[in-house]
Amino acid sequence: MSLPSDHPVLTPIANDLASQGWSHQCLILPADLTGALADECRARGAAGALAPASIGRGDGQQVREGVRGDRIQWLEPGQSAASDAYLTLMDELRQLLNRELYLGLEDFECHFACYPPGAFYQKHLDRFRDDDRRAVSVVAYLNADWQPEQGGELRLYLAQGERDVLPEGGSLVVFLSADVPHEVLPASRERLSLTGWFRRRGGPL
Ligand code: OGA
Ligand code: MN
Repeated sequence: MSLPSDHPVLTPIANDLASQGWSHQCLILPADLTGALADECRARGAAGALAPASIGRGDGQQVREGVRGDRIQWLEPGQSAASDAYLTLMDELRQLLNRELYLGLEDFECHFACYPPGAFYQKHLDRFRDDDRRAVSVVAYLNADWQPEQGGELRLYLAQGERDVLPEGGSLVVFLSADVPHEVLPASRERLSLTGWFRRRGGPL
């Protein structure tokens, strides 16, 4: 499950972010890592560890299934070999983006997400009104053999128009959190992902 230390597939992400504000990379995660992360997400779900996701933060937090219907659990270092391998890869991406784009990204927060069939997440921006630390969003998909007719697309509202991305296992979508409104469309099967954010220094405004 180890990844090459200078993961060459990460380089195009920096170039895409600089030129167009988003990047989609297929099959970026090794198959064994994707499978182990999917198993872990399902095991956390079976153990009752995934909780209904909320919107907003702090006192303004609320669960609203009409807005988002996924169940989540945050990742912490040391929970499993697979989640540690993913966090290591994300730290390489963080350092690459800082080197190439001078983004000043300080840390990474990330959660497993499971959308049951029919669940969705309405159009939104990944930035809280009272906290502008989230700078770059990263979603890794964990779904083997996803078929287009199963839905579950991530729809990105870009300056160039709308783009739909299928949640295919091993693929990664990266975008600038403040610039790209997006939504998750309902799927006919369970949809698993790891969603995370690189954050800049700073605090609540
Ligand atoms: C989110 C989100 C996208 C996806 O959790 O904020 O937009 O494709 N997720 O799961
Ligand atoms: Mn989002």
